[in-house]
Amino acid sequence: MNFQGKDIISMNDLTREEIDHILAKVDQVRNLPEKGRLCAGKVCAMMFFEPSTRTRTSFEVAMRNLGGEVGGFYDRKITSAEKDESLWDTVKMHDGYGFNVIVIRHPLKGAARLAAEAAEIPVINAGDGPNQHPTQTLLDLYSLQETQGRIDGLTIAMVGDLANGRTVHSMTEALLKYTDCRMIFISPRDLAMPRFLIDKCRKVGAQRNITVEEGSRIEDYISEVDVLYMTRIQVERLEERMAVVEKLRSIYRLEAGMLRNARPTMKVMHPLPRVTEIAPDVDATPHAYYFEQARNGLFVRETLLALILGAVQ
Ligand code: NCD
Repeated sequence: MNFQGKDIISMNDLTREEIDHILAKVDQVRNLPEKGRLCAGKVCAMMFFEPSTRTRTSFEVAMRNLGGEVGGFYDRKITSAEKDESLWDTVKMHDGYGFNVIVIRHPLKGAARLAAEAAEIPVINAGDGPNQHPTQTLLDLYSLQETQGRIDGLTIAMVGDLANGRTVHSMTEALLKYTDCRMIFISPRDLAMPRFLIDKCRKVGAQRNITVEEGSRIEDYISEVDVLYMTRIQVERLEERMAVVEKLRSIYRLEAGMLRNARPTMKVMHPLPRVTEIAPDVDATPHAYYFEQARNGLFVRETLLALILGAVQ
């Protein structure tokens, strides 16, 4: 399987075999003695039009760990986007400066796909608005395998702002490539998983013994799930509805006491940043996995860069 030069824009673009190949590579690349030289001489352009902590930092550290370098920008305000330069032109410029790969985060759905069309070099989507966040999903899938030993057959509840959260959209698309999963979408009605995704789950899921349910209370499902995937309310995409946000914050809050009847192996995951949806007392429980999950992001991104830059196959 050859990933050299491949764009990573949506989980939809990857087959199960490709995903499994990437995940299997992670354990290999993580411990390679020559890891520090794999991408020597290669430079990654970071084009961040939206805030980021983990995605940005882990991509930077990953590139450095592979012996490569990073350049680019992390704030749209210091770019010519402020002078109304089009995304197409900004990407074209970066394409011509000798970078080997672009990592882009942008508030608009479809921006990463557009960037991939503009650029000759491969483009990795680090989040395009509410649409997709494929590298997060790859690290989430890796975390499922690490903690549950498999992806097929899991019961996963996704909780919170399922309307605007790109991580849960990507994750849902990815799980549809596996079999026998039970997906439970827990959200207030206003922030429910988009209809087109639920319909897709029902249609594709029927062929793979995947079921979907929608619920509104975390407590109803805690004892039944292998993974509770918490997400924050995407306030930046909900500005005019702050009153709703305040109400929801108090309802969608996981506290340690609620985990009493959870399966011993149940893990709480979260792409982070968390705001109020996971109380700090959950951190000390054996169910908390979000910080390990974030660290897995480093290993997954190292592998992805090494694959795309042709350093491993
Ligand atoms: C997520 C994102 O940017 O979509 N963050 C991340 O990359 N880990 C989740 C979020 O911001 O809520």
